[in-house]
Amino acid sequence: MTVRQFTREEVSQKNSKTETVFIIDNVVYDVTKFLDEHPGGHEVLVNVAGKDASEDFDDVGHSLDAKELMQKYVVGEVVESERVKVQKRTMSWEDSKLDNEPSFTSSWKFPVLLGVVVTVLYTYLFG
Ligand code: HEM
Repeated sequence: MTVRQFTREEVSQKNSKTETVFIIDNVVYDVTKFLDEHPGGHEVLVNVAGKDASEDFDDVGHSLDAKELMQKYVVGEVVESERVKVQKRTMSWEDSKLDNEPSFTSSWKFPVLLGVVVTVLYTYLFG
């Protein structure tokens, strides 16, 4: 079975309360029937209707349950030529782990230096 293909232009027309359709990660969802059931309220959904809601959806940090539920509302996908690369989103602590250099205070250098300074001071003052 081939999945129905939508252009972004087509989706952008479906942006009302009577037809609420948006795109998340190149997949097209029709949530018209879900508006009143959405725990986050109908307004946020209507606000992103016709648009690419990938970021908004992700910003909320939807649960796995929500991600399963959304399968029910899939109506198609974005035509191949208009797909965007799906962002692999990482948790912020994973991002910071990828930073090349640890900050000075969190590396081993800081405690070592502190130890040296204290030792020198101690012998100088009390030696
Ligand atoms: C088919 C698409 C969607 C489904 C099935 C869905 C489902 C859900 C569910 C089940 C929850 C309850 C919390 C959770 O389980 O994570 C929720 C909360 C929420 N959703 Fe959605 N959602 C969808 C799309 C969106 C979009 C596109 C937005 C933003 C534009 C959005 C904004 C919110 C907000 C603000 C909450 C409330 C979070 C809170 O109270 O902490 N949702 N949604």
